[in-house]
Amino acid sequence: MTVTKKVPFVTFRTRVRDENVEGPNPYRWEDKTSDDYFGGKRVVLFSLPGAFTPTCSTYQVPNFEKLYDEFAKEGIDAIYCVSVNDAFVMNAWAKSLGLQKVELIPDGSGEFTRKMGMLVAKDNLGFGMRSWRYAALINNGAVEQWFEEEGFSDNCEADPYGVSSPQNVLETLKAPA
Ligand code: BEZ
Repeated sequence: MTVTKKVPFVTFRTRVRDENVEGPNPYRWEDKTSDDYFGGKRVVLFSLPGAFTPTCSTYQVPNFEKLYDEFAKEGIDAIYCVSVNDAFVMNAWAKSLGLQKVELIPDGSGEFTRKMGMLVAKDNLGFGMRSWRYAALINNGAVEQWFEEEGFSDNCEADPYGVSSPQNVLETLKAPA
């Protein structure tokens, strides 16, 4: 029997710009659920240990952004990056990277990551609980393909980055079934 993993139902607390909000910081809370992000769409989700970290900021996120149109040609409706960071941090990171296409999902409490089975301790770096690095192809909330870096573990000294890279995910998508 094939068991299809479904993404967990979680409410994400995002911050969105709203010009009706007075003051120097015109943002408000907007709750978005797993259904909002994943319902009726075929998407790539990837996850990483933290906003502003070097490999994520230099390679993983910018390359997903650069390759976005190639993913779209393969029928991908959205590319999401989830990290155990709050909405303020994720918005600041998106701004610093100039993201236009990849959407960042704040999983500040780690609930989504925990329910995906991907929460690991990174106390060795002073990070607390964070996400193991992985990517997934998700169709209407069901995981179709899974790209998990090797060595899933707490307080891992290494930070493997390969199978969840945008180049590898795209190559797999393009490969004939
Ligand atoms: C990195 O993306 O380079 C990184 C991630 C976690 C800890 C340290 C570095």
